Amino acid sequence: MRSFKVVILGATGAVGAEVVRVLEQRDFPVSDLRLLASPRSAGRILNFRGSPLPVEAVRPEAFAGFEIAFFAAGGSVSLEYAPKAAGAGCVVIDKTSAYREDPDVPLIVPEVNPHHLPVYRMKGIISSPNCSTIPLVMVLKPLHEAAGIKRVVVSTYQSVSGAGAGGMQDLEGQTGAIREGRPIQKRKFTHQIAFNVIPHIDSFLADGSTKEEAKMANESRKILDLPGLPVSATTVRVPVFVGHSESVNIELERPLTAGAAREVLSRAPGLRIIDDPSRAAYPMPIDCAGTDETFVGRVREDPSVAHGLNMWLCCDNLRKGAALNAVQIAELFIGQ
Ligand SMILES: NC(=O)c1ccc[n+]([C@@H]2O[C@H](COP(=O)([O-])OP(=O)(O)OC[C@H]3O[C@@H](n4cnc5c(N)ncnc54)[C@H](OP(=O)(O)O)[C@@H]3O)[C@@H](O)[C@H]2O)c1
Repeated sequence: MRSFKVVILGATGAVGAEVVRVLEQRDFPVSDLRLLASPRSAGRILNFRGSPLPVEAVRPEAFAGFEIAFFAAGGSVSLEYAPKAAGAGCVVIDKTSAYREDPDVPLIVPEVNPHHLPVYRMKGIISSPNCSTIPLVMVLKPLHEAAGIKRVVVSTYQSVSGAGAGGMQDLEGQTGAIREGRPIQKRKFTHQIAFNVIPHIDSFLADGSTKEEAKMANESRKILDLPGLPVSATTVRVPVFVGHSESVNIELERPLTAGAAREVLSRAPGLRIIDDPSRAAYPMPIDCAGTDETFVGRVREDPSVAHGLNMWLCCDNLRKGAALNAVQIAELFIGQ
């Protein structure tokens, strides 16, 4: 198989560093790797397959001669550089929200909607969904095929690494400061996150919801080809380092028992069922961190609505929620 010249923009961040690890772990065919970040990181040395690689400051010419560009440096950086990278001949795999709602950019979860990929030819850009959308659509797709999805209500419990390296520094620093009686520092979150829960992710919209909640609804509709699907989301930050959890309530068109739902989900790619209340076995972020699957448990019927189901999901937001999904998109792309 031939190898590819790959660029990672945002290589020093939480997602970019994980992209480097996932490329190594999955033995992605890389012939040349360029690591880009802001001028703050220029000259830093990272490792790829045991060899040191310098980080360079991003510049418009940095993409010439490369074929695949992973973008994980924030939405405004993607808006500025993705067209330049695509113009230089790269396919851009963008982890930010910049292009997710663009009809000329496919929004891909390889297990769910690989058939959308050819749309990338319009702009040379492929978007990877939000870290809380990915596990949700991975369970919605097989359930929709089995019994039709009518409405979804989801509440998230999102880890601090979802806000990047700065989010993890906030939790670690504040925990230490509180233990030692020092004043806390807030870099990333509006409020103290250590020993707290914050019902606010991304900015507020005019209707009182947040952009993160709107992203979950809009992205799920686009990925599932269900433009009218009612999705009600509440997104919450919790003091967990890695691993997003979600409580999901689904109203189906047709009856599906909890047992039949578990059966359907156990056959779906990328899901692992952990659901044995007699052993207190259910998904927890501490177990899913560092793994590639979306964990599903607490599957039960909801008698308060017709054909209702409740379940609980956990997923490593840096891997399947971000870096792994992006590398799987690249694998899908090179496999074509
Ligand atoms: N964390 C997650 O779970 C997750 C999941 C899905 C999607 N995402 C998205 O992925 C993107 C990156 O998130 P992250 O969590 O990895 O953030 P992060 O840890 O804060 O890392 C940000 C990266 O972007 C670079 N960067 C920042 N400003 C830049 C600029 N002006 N020019 C070039 N590079 C710049 C930083 O470089 P320096 O080190 O030089 O500052 C760093 O490498 C965000 O858009 C985020 O929404 C994150």
